[in-house]
Amino acid sequence: MTQDSRPMSQSRTIMTEMVFPSETNHHGTMFGGTLMLYIDKIGAIAATRHCNRPVVTASQDSLDFLSPIQVGEAVELEAFVTWTRRSSMEVYCVVRAENLFTGERRITTTAFSTFVAVDANNRPIPVPGVYPETDEERKLYESAPERYQQRMKRRELRYSTQRAPAPASTPPSTEKTGQ
Ligand SMILES: CC(C)(COP(=O)(O)OP(=O)(O)OC[C@H]1O[C@@H](n2cnc3c(N)ncnc32)[C@H](O)[C@@H]1OP(=O)(O)O)[C@@H](O)C(=O)NCCC(=O)NCCS
Repeated sequence: MTQDSRPMSQSRTIMTEMVFPSETNHHGTMFGGTLMLYIDKIGAIAATRHCNRPVVTASQDSLDFLSPIQVGEAVELEAFVTWTRRSSMEVYCVVRAENLFTGERRITTTAFSTFVAVDANNRPIPVPGVYPETDEERKLYESAPERYQQRMKRRELRYSTQRAPAPASTPPSTEKTGQ
């Protein structure tokens, strides 16, 4: 925890919508793309609340649709920052659907996203640390480093070979290496 660390509860954000027919797919249930839009939006709000700086979405590495959402149900999204490094923040989002007539509620979707705080030139800038206060928050916090490692491994595997080689005409670097 750093001196200016903030509790997870500070970024906690809730968003509630009712599912209209215009938001459904050809199965008559809520269109997943619309839910992904909401997850990205609420994640950006939670991350910005945490660091009070502009943020961009860096990745969404885990998005699980567990149960379809029916027209007329209320859909409630809850998101908060679960872990930070230098400029990046992991945001967990859990989506619950509620049948408003019976009161039955169930988790339909969960997602982990990474947001990065940026300056006016879109360069990453440092963010405050975060700390858990409840058992659920502690579990998410303690398991975050492993998720980060997996993310970085995936990033390396997927993109390391796509980095453009230096052009043949590039002159040798004159920068001192200290070797
Ligand atoms: C996200 C972005 C700012 C990262 O910039 P970069 O030049 O790659 O910077 P770095 O490699 O130094 O990474 C900066 C941080 O982002 C994290 N990061 C970068 N890519 C990531 C990815 N795919 N998944 C998770 N974290 C990632 C790094 O781990 C690092 O975190 P840290 O500072 O906490 O250690 C840049 O890739 C970008 O602007 N992407 C486009 C964002 C966008 O348009 N989003 C959609 C609209 S909001």
